[in-house]
Amino acid sequence: MTGKPLQIGLAGLGTVGTGVYETLCRNHDLLEARTQISFAVKKVAVHNLSRKREVEIDPALLTDDWHELVNDPEIDIIIELIGGTQTAYQLVRAALLAHKPVVTGNKALLAEFGSELFKLSAETKTPLYFEASCGGGIPIIQSLQNSLICNNVQRIAGIINGTSNYILSSMEKKGVSYADALAAAQRKGYAEADPTLDVNGWDAAHKALILAMLAYGTPVAPENISVYGIERIAAMDFRFAHDLGYTIKLLVVIRHHEENDALELRVQPSFVKKEHLLASVNGVFNAIAVRGDIVGETIFYGRGAGKNPTASAVIGDVMLAMRDCRHPEFHSGFRTYTKQLTVLPQEDTVTPYYVRFLVKDTPGVIATIATEFAKNGIGISGTTSTPHAAEDEDAPTDSNDLVFMLHACPWGKLKQALRAIGESDCIEPHPVVFRIETLNEA
Ligand code: HSE
Repeated sequence: MTGKPLQIGLAGLGTVGTGVYETLCRNHDLLEARTQISFAVKKVAVHNLSRKREVEIDPALLTDDWHELVNDPEIDIIIELIGGTQTAYQLVRAALLAHKPVVTGNKALLAEFGSELFKLSAETKTPLYFEASCGGGIPIIQSLQNSLICNNVQRIAGIINGTSNYILSSMEKKGVSYADALAAAQRKGYAEADPTLDVNGWDAAHKALILAMLAYGTPVAPENISVYGIERIAAMDFRFAHDLGYTIKLLVVIRHHEENDALELRVQPSFVKKEHLLASVNGVFNAIAVRGDIVGETIFYGRGAGKNPTASAVIGDVMLAMRDCRHPEFHSGFRTYTKQLTVLPQEDTVTPYYVRFLVKDTPGVIATIATEFAKNGIGISGTTSTPHAAEDEDAPTDSNDLVFMLHACPWGKLKQALRAIGESDCIEPHPVVFRIETLNEA
């Protein structure tokens, strides 16, 4: 083992921070043997010094002032696990300016401030590592940066929010209500401090922006991605999907369109054929399918959230940071390599659709809907319906859920048709819309 031990500053001792600290202690000798670098955790910054900890830790290590980590000349590497974007931003920025490599799992931070922080990382020649920001324990960041480096990435599709996948699987497989499934995901430590981000699609979107940045070479601003969450999914959608041979997943799709060199970027509940591998990804598991021009199709699978899987990803980065500290000339943090990306307008993205309308059971209502679809050149591949009273005894008995399966069409055309359909007095103006994803294209 060479040199004096590297000193680590850990900011945040919540679920993941605790997992990181425990594992660095438990597997300390193994990590030193594998890296041939000795290390120690020198300081841990926490929000509340008097809070009871789930891990045994020497109180002398604790501080409630993160500046102590940045200002300590002996600390070589900083791990940011405090979450949120305000203090985390101050901390990461200060650490990079102090030339201390940073390991973070904070996808919201990277989505909001990634451009600036990666620029600062390049200017200060101080790497910023973020394996834990996407896919929990799945080593997708390193894979995109290193193992798949020779590929032009044609498409990434995946399930990258553990909480929403846990909710969808519990609703589908166990008949658990949406609210109960969300509460269980929170108890298990999968959900964000504010679980709104898990269910409204934005946590997955933050991760998608990171994947797009790695695959295409430059940070992508959040306004470029189209995001829909799982909040409006009902048990009946699973039954309709099942009868039609599908399951429902919150899917991220990033696709490069060669013809106009533009990126399609979206997150949305989607119908996935039961036979596709992604359909069998259940519970907290995530899966990311990456298709490259050289490697072809690959699928990365593992636990997408939770204390230990995320700690595994963080510590992978810490070890990389330690190696880079010994050989800074080769540092492996992200560097922008593309100047500009064109993002396909959402209106131009094309897929088949599932649309469920709540309608008054009056003559002509199907004709009204079908007419608007026809006017916009949208073909109907099938319809089905459930009298509303059969689903919910409290619901009005004169209403129906009408489902339309639509042939592939641009989202702009469908949006136009839905706007016109919503003007009818007999049709609730906000239907449930899912894309039907075809993921096995050549
Ligand atoms: N809340 C996130 C999820 C945690 O459920 O996937 C991991 O990023």
